[in-house]
Amino acid sequence: MQEEEVPQTVSKPPGRPGFHDVNPQAAGVLQRNGVKSWTKPAPSLYPHQWSWDSAFIALGLAHVDNRRATGELEALFSAQWKTGKVPHIVFDPEAPPKSYFPDAERWNSNGLSEHAPTGPHTSGLCQPPVHALAVRRIWETAQDKDERGVEAAREFLTGNYPRLYSWHRYLSTARDPERSGLVTIYHPWESGTDNSPRWDAPLSRIAIGDIPSYTRYDVQHVADASHRPTDEEYDRFLWLLEMLKKARYEEMDIYGSHPFLVKDVLFSAILVAANEALLEIGAVVGAPAEERAQVEAWIERGREGLEEQWDPALNLCVDRDVLTGESLRVRTVAGFAPLISGGLDERRLKDMLLTLDSEDFAGNPTLHRPLPPSTSPDEPGFHPRSYWRGPVWPVANWLLWWSLLRAGESERAASLRHHTLEELAESGFAEYFEPFTGEPLGSGEQSWTAAIALDMLATENGP
Ligand code: SER
Repeated sequence: MQEEEVPQTVSKPPGRPGFHDVNPQAAGVLQRNGVKSWTKPAPSLYPHQWSWDSAFIALGLAHVDNRRATGELEALFSAQWKTGKVPHIVFDPEAPPKSYFPDAERWNSNGLSEHAPTGPHTSGLCQPPVHALAVRRIWETAQDKDERGVEAAREFLTGNYPRLYSWHRYLSTARDPERSGLVTIYHPWESGTDNSPRWDAPLSRIAIGDIPSYTRYDVQHVADASHRPTDEEYDRFLWLLEMLKKARYEEMDIYGSHPFLVKDVLFSAILVAANEALLEIGAVVGAPAEERAQVEAWIERGREGLEEQWDPALNLCVDRDVLTGESLRVRTVAGFAPLISGGLDERRLKDMLLTLDSEDFAGNPTLHRPLPPSTSPDEPGFHPRSYWRGPVWPVANWLLWWSLLRAGESERAASLRHHTLEELAESGFAEYFEPFTGEPLGSGEQSWTAAIALDMLATENGP
């Protein structure tokens, strides 16, 4: 990052005593992880650009440096595939060798697919579409700026809108040929919740063939390998990657042959929320009426699809295995998908709040803080230290906090905000936290943890 690009800290006061240092510290994390015009998710564990990390990073940067926030998304979208897909990793050719696996060579995206960009090397997957939420935040924060700042933001929105529209169209068509309103993922990495017990059943059905040999570098970057997915999980992850390559990343072929096709409710809910943001962006840039009508139809279809996946016994929304038709009945934070998609009637909102307050999530009295564990402690697949099997993830807290504010649940939102910021003030910007002790786990100095802190600090009373 250039000297003059150092983000300034948020000018608004944090609003609560004890959080005064969080703001400059969070801005410092984003500054140190900055690489050229984009930001690494973490200093060494993730040395390239990741899609949904970048979206959250841009959302946080919108409070400190709009130019850097827009640069973050420009860098990511410059690697968009011709199909509209925004890849989940854009590789940095200058990253230290042997620092991350699977690398660009293993994905071989532009060697296999004519849809991949010819310049930057990317993975062949995608991740939840938080980007429109970040673009809207860039527009919102620009309103406090002078005329030039507002015009710069408008120009960015105008350039970015068609890319966002084509990204959402890809997800609503290629990833939902059934027009169910739910997005199909091809790999647990696409969910962003890699080793969540949500995926245990579909992964267990996969027969693994020969996988070219590989070395994991991720476990070398954390204090304890047990924080990360296991080797058995990695074998499955790598096998799925080989299967996608065999299909040359062709959507139709993948749909016809791939052993992991799952309707992901969290991904789908984020798409609904992002489509709402896209409507607002479309209004700013004067998007064609038929595109706006299309986005409205996607929103409606998405909410209907999520309602189909409501599990009354669990009082949560659950994923569906496309290959077996089975619902994947596991209690995880992803089950709050309807809250994230928004537009709930009173009854469903009450259901969601009941589950959130229950012992399965934030109401568990043995928790270090009343923050929802990524997996309910009562699930057989729960593990308090392993990645998405139980730890508290600040970024998941952000999604729930933001959704609660939008639903008018300001008291619960305030509690989530307060306890999240308190955790970060106490233990730093870790990737995730042990739910019963608050011990920081995974990588330290995680960019999106810092980014959501900036957004929470700047947004006390409403999104
Ligand atoms: N989250 C995965 C990793 O840990 C891939 O996106 O590498």
